[in-house]
Amino acid sequence: MKSSMQQLDDIKFYDAHPGTGDLRREVIDGLANSPKMIPPKFFYDRRGSELFDAICETPEYYQTRTEMDILRNCVDDLVDHIGPDCLLVELGSGASKKVRLLLEQLRPSSYMAVDISKEFLLSSTQTLASDYPWLDVHAACVDFSHNLTIPHCDTYDHKVTFFPGSSIGNFDPDDAVDLIRRIAQMMDMNGHLLIGVDLKKDISILNAAYNDDAGVTAEFNLNLLKRIRDELDSEIDPDTFEHAAFYNSNRGRIEMHLVSCQAQRIRIDDRFFEFDAGETIHTENSYKYTIDEFAQLAAAAGFEQQRVWTDEASLFSVQLLKTV
Ligand code: AVJ
Repeated sequence: MKSSMQQLDDIKFYDAHPGTGDLRREVIDGLANSPKMIPPKFFYDRRGSELFDAICETPEYYQTRTEMDILRNCVDDLVDHIGPDCLLVELGSGASKKVRLLLEQLRPSSYMAVDISKEFLLSSTQTLASDYPWLDVHAACVDFSHNLTIPHCDTYDHKVTFFPGSSIGNFDPDDAVDLIRRIAQMMDMNGHLLIGVDLKKDISILNAAYNDDAGVTAEFNLNLLKRIRDELDSEIDPDTFEHAAFYNSNRGRIEMHLVSCQAQRIRIDDRFFEFDAGETIHTENSYKYTIDEFAQLAAAAGFEQQRVWTDEASLFSVQLLKTV
């Protein structure tokens, strides 16, 4: 990985510089596409990360609290499977809140937080390091959808990747297999993957989770346009777009879109993009799986399901996969 390493107060920080160059390039490419799309990883600037945390607190968004309950209940069992002193790598660590449920009992020797959002990554790992003085804390600012070389990893025998939050749902199934295969390779084909996977369920529960009454998800979606307005040389009015989210049962996924309320032309750099009234930018997919469907996906990537924990209503699952 092309990166610099810095020793900050309590953490070792690796920066692969996933910068605004990526934002400009991928936004322009995505808007030149038909249908227009922008990858969901660009939601997570500081404001976007805060809004995502606020989504997790809405009554409709069951995923985060359900996953946390499952983690609380399965941790003893998990420790029996994994044992102490591993290197724990968390992909998309965000506020590093969920991993706290594991640390005391699992007692890894090192924790490597990987996230695309640099400021958020730094502040949350620094807090974590001061809360867990016995833990060797590392942070890597990496866009793991492109690049999954995690520094420091090779010095460890026993690696566990923690990929919570059903972020795997953002990837089309083929890309999900590809990413999970790269996780296996990053762990030298010898390690565990502890992954949160959102399950197929009643469509009204799914639709409500992405259309909360308080409008936080709408603001999260629209923040992407504010980011483009503020960070790129552009002319775009976020108020001329609306949030839309719905479950597409044929594809087994929630889709989020930004709908243009009017016919218009927006500019980024020297490029212009035309919108019909009602035309959308597709900003996110969130795939839902049955436990069997996910077992097949994992198998295609070189993992087997060792344990699957769910909540009573089978809304969400936490799965321990092992390389075969
Ligand atoms: C973080 C990708 C799991 O798909 O549910 C929440 C992001 N988008 N509300 C999801 C999200 C809208 C979330 N993931």
